[in-house]
Amino acid sequence: MSGNTAAWIDAPYADLIVRDVPMPALRSGQLLVEVRALAVNPLDAIIQSNGRVMYGWLRYPVVLGEDVAGVVVDVGAEVSGFTVGDRVTAYAIGLEKGRDAVAESGFQAYVAVDAALASRLPTTVTFAEAAVLPLAISTAAAGLFEAGQLGLDHTGLGDATPREEVVVIWGGASAVGGNAIQLARAAGYRVITTASARNHDLMLRLGAEAVFDYHDPRVADQIIAAIGSSAVAGILAVAVGSAEPSVTIARAVGAKRIAMASPPVSFYDQPRRRGLSLARIRLFLRLGGRSVTLQLRSRLGGVRASFIWGSAIASSAVGPALWRDYLPAALASGSHRPYPEAHIAGDGLPAIQDALDTLRRGVSARKLVITMDSTPPQSCAPRTD
Ligand SMILES: NC(=O)c1ccc[n+]([C@@H]2O[C@H](COP(=O)([O-])OP(=O)(O)OC[C@H]3O[C@@H](n4cnc5c(N)ncnc54)[C@H](OP(=O)(O)O)[C@@H]3O)[C@@H](O)[C@H]2O)c1
Repeated sequence: MSGNTAAWIDAPYADLIVRDVPMPALRSGQLLVEVRALAVNPLDAIIQSNGRVMYGWLRYPVVLGEDVAGVVVDVGAEVSGFTVGDRVTAYAIGLEKGRDAVAESGFQAYVAVDAALASRLPTTVTFAEAAVLPLAISTAAAGLFEAGQLGLDHTGLGDATPREEVVVIWGGASAVGGNAIQLARAAGYRVITTASARNHDLMLRLGAEAVFDYHDPRVADQIIAAIGSSAVAGILAVAVGSAEPSVTIARAVGAKRIAMASPPVSFYDQPRRRGLSLARIRLFLRLGGRSVTLQLRSRLGGVRASFIWGSAIASSAVGPALWRDYLPAALASGSHRPYPEAHIAGDGLPAIQDALDTLRRGVSARKLVITMDSTPPQSCAPRTD
């Protein structure tokens, strides 16, 4: 290994630019991964669209990216369970507070990841398929299982006794939602979800027992009727605007907790440039108004609505339960399907900016994945994919 390359964002709102970056130095507990496929997330597009409004602790230039799959080329101190040459998928958390937003972010040829947020891949799962998972499955697990979120029981995840309680997952076709359906089922819960009609069969195949079209104005009533007298363990609200109908459902069925993955307004609804604009002012006024109304409606109904932070699992018992104990075995047995389907949006780091622009226009039950075949790695690890 002699060189490393990254897609840098040099300043708030800027386009990504590909150039050299130092080879990450491993900290204790970390793996150096040669990236063979990576995926883009709404988080990357939102940070690029919002300048310093979000993730204000970032000191530019930085590197974005959370989702990688590749080959382990070096193993840090105090790591067990991984060796050089392992095929893995990993959640790169460089953008989180206190982390290194260059060495530990995913949009580069070599990245340092926490071994605790990595899983070995079976040969049946390609790097492109695996790259769809990290942030989405971590966020799903945080929303379902963290004590401050829905606090569902994750003991025996993957081998749990079936329960009668229902979990409502609004936005089942999203990357977070489709992984949440599978995790909730693996923890033994029944699942009711929402998706566009074209994705209904897919939701049932992931394990939902009922799915409703969120475009239908009667969808909340339909879900309330489907729940009937069943106990609801909680509602996971994924997708912009999903929290409001979730509060309606929670109040009607007596659910006490909503875990929200998304804000009430879209951060894409503004120009990607510095300074105040009418669109930006309107966006933040709507954000403030809808957030206050949401909290009032939920508290008055005895419902706690909390915002999920996917990386919370890095410092809780949910992280090892997911990445070490559940995911490798579930991928190997095929009981957890890499969701959503990988759509190859390009090859090499220069393709990432276009993929982010495509993501802003919206995707359906697809994850935009960049392969890294045109950035030949210089390690001696054998290519297996
Ligand atoms: N808080 C965190 O830590 C965290 C982490 C990751 C993601 N997120 C947020 O979670 C959300 C999902 O992220 P993702 O990567 O999973 O997104 P994604 O896969 O790109 O989401 C696309 C899917 O969202 C569904 N969708 C869109 N609007 C919907 C609505 N109003 N109701 C129900 N479903 C809707 C669509 O379903 P159909 O195709 O069926 O229409 C589509 O398939 C985003 O808002 C993202 O910012 C938060």
